[in-house]
Amino acid sequence: MTLEGRRILLAVTGGIAAYKTPLLIRELLARGAQVRVVRTAHAEQFVTDTTLAVLSQNPVSADLFAPTQEFPVLHVGLAEWADLFLVAPATANTLGKMAHGLADDLLTCIYLATQAPIMVAPAMEENMLNHPQVTANCARLRQDGVGWIDPETGPLASGASGKGRMAQIEKVISAVEQRLAVGDNLRHNDFDGRRLLVTAGPTLEDLDPVRFIGNRSSGKMGYAIASRARARGASVVMVSGPTHLQAPTGVKVVGVRSALDMLQACQEHFDGCDAAIMAAAVADYRPASVSDTKLKREAGLDSIALVENPDISAILGAQKGHRLLVAFAMETGQGLDQARRKLEKKNADFVVLNDLQQAGAGFAVDTNVVTIVDAASEQALAKMDKLDVADRILDELLRRLVS
Ligand code: CTP
Repeated sequence: MTLEGRRILLAVTGGIAAYKTPLLIRELLARGAQVRVVRTAHAEQFVTDTTLAVLSQNPVSADLFAPTQEFPVLHVGLAEWADLFLVAPATANTLGKMAHGLADDLLTCIYLATQAPIMVAPAMEENMLNHPQVTANCARLRQDGVGWIDPETGPLASGASGKGRMAQIEKVISAVEQRLAVGDNLRHNDFDGRRLLVTAGPTLEDLDPVRFIGNRSSGKMGYAIASRARARGASVVMVSGPTHLQAPTGVKVVGVRSALDMLQACQEHFDGCDAAIMAAAVADYRPASVSDTKLKREAGLDSIALVENPDISAILGAQKGHRLLVAFAMETGQGLDQARRKLEKKNADFVVLNDLQQAGAGFAVDTNVVTIVDAASEQALAKMDKLDVADRILDELLRRLVS
């Protein structure tokens, strides 16, 4: 049984998909899990406490102030009980409260109090899901390390068809299984006392006050690494080129623009660190000169003279001493050879290779497909959420830090 003995705290919110939660509970129990249910006030409109209690074999908790014999403080007790906190279905309202740290009911207090991994299975009408505020809230939660179970497309409560249905029960279960399996070989505070430097995002190399040379990096991989490292107890400095992402909670972010700025910031912060993870997409070249005034079309421009940027990872690699260095290699062919070349050139301990030609890898998407390469081995990982990739990279790093 894949979830034998695992304690799943299922939080049910007030969306129509709550009618599926009795089945979800059944399937979790069938895999050996213990389940307790908390619900919001509105959830009661869609599923009864009797059903949830009978199926979960535990009382249902809804009231933050309900007297309890079991725990001195209900929300803290439940938060500590959980091996995993699963919000399914998660409404726009609850996601918004979680994203903003509001805690006006039992569910949201548990969210703030728990140290367990958290997953959400959103369910709402498509227009709500696509609302910029909801999108921003979801992005914030994902950056904070909340696991995301993507809603599906199909008939919605309104009768319209669109994206927003809660994921099928089997998908929810398999996401839970995966999350707990990843969690087995790591966990809370295993990076306690460690200091990490992470680079993220693109660098922009100015040509004049208006134009620059840049690249397509969204910063998602570096931000995922920084947020997971922080969640696991590390103190993290992230040197980030310009991105549209919000800073992960608790991470010190040093914003930079060009490769030269990034080099300077990295050199300032590498000293006290145990390791550096170089996830930024640094421009290899910059314009040889930057004009103070806007270049005019009439002046003509046949070509742009470029000069080479310093290789920040190679510089840190040469200086690293006992510290560890992780580089990335983004390739479009002959990946392993290229990764090994970079391993040597940068004096890295391992290289995270991603092949842009694989579906689900690369810029702007939330997933990645990577191979962890060192001098002696290569470990190909399946396509997974960037947060899970981040955890796997951190596992690999930790193994080397403690050995
Ligand atoms: N990197 C860096 N400083 C640079 C360039 C790259 O720190 N000036 C880091 C990246 O953050 C990444 C790794 O080096 O960890 C990528 O290696 P790189 O040699 O840049 O790869 P490419 O530029 O893609 O090399 P090539 O063009 O030879 O494929």
